[in-house]
Amino acid sequence: MKIILGGSLGHISKPLTEELLRDGHQVVVISSNKEREKQIQALGAEAAIGSLSDADFLSATFAGADLVYTMVPPANYFDHSLDLLAYYRKFGRNYAKAITQSGVKRVINLSSIGAHMDKGNGILQGTYHVEQLLNDLPADVSITHIRPTEFYYNLLPHSYTAKNKGYIAFNISNGVINSWVSPLDIADVIAAEISTPFAGRKVRYVASEEIAYGDLIRILGKAIGNPELAWLTLTDEQMREGLITAGMNPTIAADMTEMYAAINTGLLYEDYRLNRPLMGKVKVNDFALDFANAYKQIQRNVI
Ligand SMILES: NC(=O)c1ccc[n+]([C@@H]2O[C@H](COP(=O)([O-])OP(=O)(O)OC[C@H]3O[C@@H](n4cnc5c(N)ncnc54)[C@H](OP(=O)(O)O)[C@@H]3O)[C@@H](O)[C@H]2O)c1
Repeated sequence: MKIILGGSLGHISKPLTEELLRDGHQVVVISSNKEREKQIQALGAEAAIGSLSDADFLSATFAGADLVYTMVPPANYFDHSLDLLAYYRKFGRNYAKAITQSGVKRVINLSSIGAHMDKGNGILQGTYHVEQLLNDLPADVSITHIRPTEFYYNLLPHSYTAKNKGYIAFNISNGVINSWVSPLDIADVIAAEISTPFAGRKVRYVASEEIAYGDLIRILGKAIGNPELAWLTLTDEQMREGLITAGMNPTIAADMTEMYAAINTGLLYEDYRLNRPLMGKVKVNDFALDFANAYKQIQRNVI
């Protein structure tokens, strides 16, 4: 198959490219960075250099493809002029336009846990809208929405407070169970979807391990050599204020607080619990090694 991948050589798309090439597919990788071209070609794939926010570039790149993998790249939450919902909707509209113009009939869309909710999911609200914009395409376009749970790597920046304050803090109680996922497990699931003939609309959740925050913190504490590492539960207001103090766009800080509050209450995982996937192979113990490496690189603050 001729497959077009968004996401450049990012966390998901790099292992996905390697897997698809091993399976004998022709793979075209989209990157916004001309310098990435050689790295993409070195893997054995073709590079398409341009922006995922350019619908004409996407239409031209998608032409003749058997399948496209769509994703919304991470936004800069510290940009105070960013309207996050508008950002998502623009990618959704661009993808829908490019799929229509190019005539592609098979789409795998990277969505997210929480995309079943049109509100109450905070920063994930846009994922609901992208799914709807794509679902509005004609029925002969087959679409699988991949809904990963929370990425392990979201915890890496928290190695900073782990090192300097001895805790990791969120507006979530330590008995709450969250479901975590590795991009490697997501790439495996996307590759499996690609090799499975399918028509219609489908949602598939992806997860690697479910664990209570109290148990997660014990594993991370052990990995960094600090068994006293604590999980600190903030109020929603403390969480939001902390993010704003760190410089985050205030609206996005409120939305991020809402998303974590929905993990705390279990609301975000309501639909996931009805459609629980088999767990992937990358476990919290594996991720703890990445966390320990990030922790080592953090300078301890000297006051
Ligand atoms: N974090 C979570 O818990 C979570 C949960 C569910 C879903 N998600 C989704 O997962 C996504 C991240 O996936 P990932 O980790 O595989 O991505 P990633 O590693 O962040 O890589 C994305 C790549 O896309 C390229 N890119 C960025 N903007 C572009 C543009 N305008 N046009 C073309 N290419 C662009 C960049 O590479 P170049 O510099 O080469 O262009 C970038 O490295 C998030 O954006 C979100 O949609 C995240």
